[in-house]
Amino acid sequence: MVIRHGRTLVFFAGILVLGLTWASVAAQAPQGPPQQAPIRTAQQQFKNIQVLNDIPANQMNLSMHLIAGQLGVGCQYCHVWEQWDREDRPQKQIARRMMIMTNDINRNSFGGARAVTCFTCHQGRPKPVSTVVLPSPVVPRFDDPPPPPAPALPTVDQILSKYVQALGGEQNLRKVTSRVITGKRNIPTGPGGIDSTPAEVEIFQKAPGLTLNVYRTEKFTISDGFDGTTAWAQTVAGAVNDLPTPDQGRVKRTANFHEPLEMKQNYARMSVRGVESVGRRQAYVVLGVLEDDTPEQLYFDTQTGLLLRRATFMRTPLGDSPFEIDFDDYRDAGGGTKIPYVVRMNPAGPRTELGTSSTLRIEKIRNGVSIDDSRFVKPQPRPRPPAPVPAPAPAPAPAP
Ligand code: HEC
Ligand code: HEC
Repeated sequence: MVIRHGRTLVFFAGILVLGLTWASVAAQAPQGPPQQAPIRTAQQQFKNIQVLNDIPANQMNLSMHLIAGQLGVGCQYCHVWEQWDREDRPQKQIARRMMIMTNDINRNSFGGARAVTCFTCHQGRPKPVSTVVLPSPVVPRFDDPPPPPAPALPTVDQILSKYVQALGGEQNLRKVTSRVITGKRNIPTGPGGIDSTPAEVEIFQKAPGLTLNVYRTEKFTISDGFDGTTAWAQTVAGAVNDLPTPDQGRVKRTANFHEPLEMKQNYARMSVRGVESVGRRQAYVVLGVLEDDTPEQLYFDTQTGLLLRRATFMRTPLGDSPFEIDFDDYRDAGGGTKIPYVVRMNPAGPRTELGTSSTLRIEKIRNGVSIDDSRFVKPQPRPRPPAPVPAPAPAPAPAP
């Protein structure tokens, strides 16, 4: 991943705030007066430099503060405090790739000018906003008259049946009645859920509507599930709690093994609201009004018919707090059926901290595994261990 000298040069010009660019420093250094000590490069001075190899060592700090500012984060977003050479945080490696990418963009598309910087995309956020930010959702009321249907829109039934077709068709979907999924998911932990902990995930699903999710991290194992009646979660400390009211319904609906076939049963009323973009895709927005929860919006790809996003919100004294689940990378899951292999769960809040959102990446799906119903029984709380336990992690957002 070492960048050739020329590329480093152009790149570093891009992240310097000073009028003095590395290009000018580099041009002068070798021809400078002989008594002038040669400028040490970052690679010479620091322990673990792979991209910024040739920048002057004394500008390392400046450039670090600059990228922190451009992303709106502290040093610890990428580093273990004061152990700067360590590689514990994946963000550090991402940042390296980003440096190379930014340099390539400038070189390939802007003739090497410093046209694009981290800030161009990041604008003070660690994760650039690539999806249009919807205005604060107007809470649709149960007694709102349905909006006049736009002429070109398909009906709810057409959208739902296209969705079922896209997933493999009713026949194929009905044939599968149990499934074991393994994959990885980062779980928001720690105070405020801002620490993202990588976990191995095992998901057991059985028709008609049983689920168990187990998350194993290096330090702890937590789980949650739906036993057919109750949605529960087991904490780091071993306590087992029933989920709060709105989550009960949300988990129950998505635990339905054949939910795509029975979507209409979820809602008191469904209506097609229009077309919006989800990332680079266009989607029909279907509003599902629930009797016991805030409405849900379902976004179906206008072309493929697949469900791209499920969005709802939680009413709080400070306003509606949105929660979105994005489904991506639909792939064959066996038996002629399809499943999204990437599921991004985005809870409320400014998306300025990595940990608050959580992504499930499926690695393997096994259909038709026989799973005994006892697997789905709500567990007994574990007795507290004698030693002090670590701060409990909040239960992860309900899996789809
Ligand atoms: C967005 C991620 C990011 C942030 C934020 C960040 N750094 Fe870095 N830092 C890096 C990367 C990437 C490298 C390695 C660069 C390379 O490989 O060329 C690095 C390297 C370093 C090094 C050299 C360590 C060594 O021995 O190899 C120091 C020192 C450093 N950073 C200090 C800081 C300080 C201080 C802050 C806060 C003001 C900070 N960094 C903020 C990504 C970041
Ligand atoms: C062309 C746009 C663009 C530029 C320029 C850019 N980034 Fe990014 N960066 C992104 C996008 C988009 C993501 C989010 C990818 C995702 O997770 O979907 C991202 C993600 C990151 C992340 C990971 C954030 C996280 O929470 O996982 C880091 C760290 C990062 N960028 C650092 C940088 C640094 C440092 C620079 C400048 C050297 C930079 N980026 C320049 C678009 C850009």
